[in-house]
Amino acid sequence: MKIQVAPSILSADFSCLGDEIRKIEQAGADWVHIDVMDGNFVPNLTFGAPVVSKIRKVTKLFFDCHLMVEHPETYIEDFAKAGADQIVVHAEATRHLHRCLQAIHGAGLRAGVALNPASSLALVEEVLCDADLFLLMTVNPGFGGQKFIPSVLPKIGRLRRMLQQANRKTDIQVDGGINAETAKLVVGAGATVLVAGSYVYGAADTAAAIASLRAGDRS
Ligand code: DX5
Ligand code: ZN
Repeated sequence: MKIQVAPSILSADFSCLGDEIRKIEQAGADWVHIDVMDGNFVPNLTFGAPVVSKIRKVTKLFFDCHLMVEHPETYIEDFAKAGADQIVVHAEATRHLHRCLQAIHGAGLRAGVALNPASSLALVEEVLCDADLFLLMTVNPGFGGQKFIPSVLPKIGRLRRMLQQANRKTDIQVDGGINAETAKLVVGAGATVLVAGSYVYGAADTAAAIASLRAGDRS
């Protein structure tokens, strides 16, 4: 499966967000990863759908919206209207995960489910065939620039085997502490979508940083 690179704008310079998005587009990014935080599900605040609708005007890149918010079902319509292509909700943040995935699909978008590092794969076992992507957090969500948690690696492998047994080629996304070294490890374990914030935006050569993340691709 082809590896997709999704730079996270959390590490971008927000005073010139449009330029920061054009920069990753020109450097070969596949998706824009958009981190929405509510100061409740995670101990940090970012932005909501109005910002997404503004940046929608500057690029045609795929908008991957990672909702780190309680009750994500409340915001699906807003993000769909704002121009999201995919909405990823945390299994820990909604009481009705299946209904939430149905609502995202109903809005015409791809639907993903995220799990924190300490959350068991059992939380997604019953919706294995209802999501287009599973996001396994490789840091505790809330902040950019944290250290990769290596104990998530076997979890990626277990999820890939669960999906194979169900005959599904669903994307496994990883998010947190991804750089050229950790990218090889997660791709080897079965990840197909790599989110990287500080590694991409902190690099002097953005295109080289994005290319280095793809280096672990075996396809
Ligand atoms: C963390 C966010 C990430 C963050 C990753 O809560 O979900 O998307 O931007 O940042 P890095 O790549 O710097 O760990
Ligand atoms: Zn994220």
